[in-house]
Amino acid sequence: MDDSRRRFLQATGALGAAALAGGANAATAEDFKQYGDGSRPTPPETKVEKILARMSVEEKIGQMIQANVSTVDPSDIESLFTTYHVGSLLTGAAYPPARDPTELAEGINSLQEFAIGKGNGVPFVFGIDSVHGNVTVEGSTAFPHNVGMGATRDPDLMEAAAKHTGESAAAIGAHWGFAPTSGLGRDPRWGRYYETLSEDPHLTGELASAAVRGLQEGAGDHDGVAASVKHFAAYTQPQNGDDRSPARIPTRDLVQNHFVPHHMGIQEDALTVMVNSGSVNGVPAHASSWLLQTVLRDQMGFEGVAVSDWNDFQRMVNMHQYAPDLKTAVKKGVNAGVDMAMLSSVENVEKFYNNLVELVDEGEVKKSRIDEAARRVLELKATLGLLEDPYVDASAATDTVGGAKKAAREAVRESLTLLKNENSALPLGDTDSVLLAGPNVDNVRTQCGGWTVGWQGLHEDDATPWATTIADAVRDRASGIVTVHETGYTFNRWSDDTWSLADSTKETIVRDAKRADKVVLALGEGPYAEGFGNTDRLALPDAQRELVDAVTNAVSDDTQVVGLLVAGRPRGTSETLAKLDGFLMAYYPGSAGGGVADVLYGDADPGGRLAFRWPDGVGQVPNYYNQYHPAKDNANALFEFGAGESYADFEFSNLTVSPSSIRDARKTGTATATVTVTNTSGRTGTALAEAFYTEAYGSVNYPRRKRLGSTKVELAGGESKRVTVEFPLAALAVVPGDMPGDSAPVVEAGDFTVELGGQTATLTVERTVELDPTPGAQ
Ligand code: NOJ
Repeated sequence: MDDSRRRFLQATGALGAAALAGGANAATAEDFKQYGDGSRPTPPETKVEKILARMSVEEKIGQMIQANVSTVDPSDIESLFTTYHVGSLLTGAAYPPARDPTELAEGINSLQEFAIGKGNGVPFVFGIDSVHGNVTVEGSTAFPHNVGMGATRDPDLMEAAAKHTGESAAAIGAHWGFAPTSGLGRDPRWGRYYETLSEDPHLTGELASAAVRGLQEGAGDHDGVAASVKHFAAYTQPQNGDDRSPARIPTRDLVQNHFVPHHMGIQEDALTVMVNSGSVNGVPAHASSWLLQTVLRDQMGFEGVAVSDWNDFQRMVNMHQYAPDLKTAVKKGVNAGVDMAMLSSVENVEKFYNNLVELVDEGEVKKSRIDEAARRVLELKATLGLLEDPYVDASAATDTVGGAKKAAREAVRESLTLLKNENSALPLGDTDSVLLAGPNVDNVRTQCGGWTVGWQGLHEDDATPWATTIADAVRDRASGIVTVHETGYTFNRWSDDTWSLADSTKETIVRDAKRADKVVLALGEGPYAEGFGNTDRLALPDAQRELVDAVTNAVSDDTQVVGLLVAGRPRGTSETLAKLDGFLMAYYPGSAGGGVADVLYGDADPGGRLAFRWPDGVGQVPNYYNQYHPAKDNANALFEFGAGESYADFEFSNLTVSPSSIRDARKTGTATATVTVTNTSGRTGTALAEAFYTEAYGSVNYPRRKRLGSTKVELAGGESKRVTVEFPLAALAVVPGDMPGDSAPVVEAGDFTVELGGQTATLTVERTVELDPTPGAQ
């Protein structure tokens, strides 16, 4: 571990002391193996009720514990099972005790032998982070981060990616993937913005649901994992943009928007949810029985396990200063409805366990509540097939890890979003002489972003996913001369804003730019995660802006300069954009740099459309597209939600809505908007037919614009098709009533102007009907 990394990890306090000291005491998979003897004992009892009946209260409390083993001291492992009877393990923050898939699977098998043979006979359920793939181990596949997956508008692709992630996580011995992030991306200053799929509730829900299906497919046969709809709920809009700063969100907005995608994921039978670490409207989510009981259980019908986030009982004391001590926090959280505590260390396991044992003794937490939580955890294990067969075939791990390469490349092609293309700066011509320069052009670390084989992304001494860099992919594809200058920047710390560019390197880049037909400047951000990614600027780092200036000032009119942005959020403002001929948003594309080359050369159409509204600088935040009028105040955006060009040209005509008049939105359920899309160019391209309502009046304010649904269609040059977009009428719902906004959501009677590709049609709702409970997929 290099010094800067150690200092960084120490500063965060996020990892255990052993790992911070250089890993000397942190258990490796080899240490895990010492606990097994190859005997493969199976659980003596496989029926949940029978297991519960023979368990002591202490053992049931153990089921409610998830202990981190990324950094556990080897000598502490035994006590996890023999003293605390822990029901679950995790390797948090993508730090497994081994990067080798086979070794990790063997290590987990050995621990499982110990848990069953020498513990209380109940297998543990093992969780890992799987933010954008099974990016925990060497050679895995990193898909584009969620912010790019939102741009694909493609639930099938999302499902395919998640299916591979689930299979691959199961292959290394895990049973549970902490994904999908199902909150709305509302504030690009926030360090976790790139983990969100969209700022639109139904689009987020469509993709989150697809991810749940994909992850959980085959989970009962060890061919998939339990999903975690996270972070429940309203984590994604911290008030000042800083991670876990308190959120202030009107109930109306919670119900109409924030809860919707979570609910949609839960309706796909998500087996678990992870609770939001933050506080909402003055109450930590972990202590809110309204959120965890009324909304989650009674209204949404969730029956699975609600796991806390990382040490979040402690956070109620230290961060929220809501509870005076841990015991009070445990009481409040468990009584509110948290079934399992995710705990970073054995010390924290001990504290949680002792506090909860005492609270039950004192009658502060009812035994029935412990039974309920333990039962849910055991039922999860039963659903995952762990009570019958808790082991994985470690020798097969590498057969699966690193697969789905085609889907990864397709996801990149479908996510790349072309935002400016003057005088057809793109695609690059086959024989063009091309200069590629900038910090993100030949760099697996920046291409993959955070949560990739490491919390804050890759490090020099870490293993990596498989990856083709953008530069390598372009070199492979090009017939003309390709010059690459990547090394001009150095990371001074774990944030991109201090990147610097040596004058000599800048001069070399400028020199070579003058000789090129096209210049692609790969700009953007480095990797980051959680609070380390908070920023108060959305303009590009100064050194990058200077590079753009230097290059664009130096080249002749014959040389076009394209900005290729590798970043987790809308970085870049009109000032920079005006100087560039082309601008292509690549998000964090992950392993498949080949997908970027496909789009740069026109072998694939740039398939992405923004799943968020792009503010022109931080002063325009919050900026999400579905806010209320007056439009004057939020009309200033660099790019609108849905922006993104194809290399082809399309025309939309003849919009019809069916039915055009609806009597009972609850019974009718869905409606369709159908439009003719014509490719008026000579080349094949992908069009997005995305329907919105743009005008609506009722008892409360309506968003200035709201997405109803979308369909993507590929059309050959000159081809024309009728394209249908089906949408849930629940997308029209609002919470009626005065300011408290505490009524049940309704679809109100009235005329809605439906807009698609510039065409409009009217949808009439004849009478107001109540929806139950949140306006998710009905
Ligand atoms: C904290 C993060 O908020 C959560 O998303 C993650 O799954 C856990 N840590 C485990 O690493």
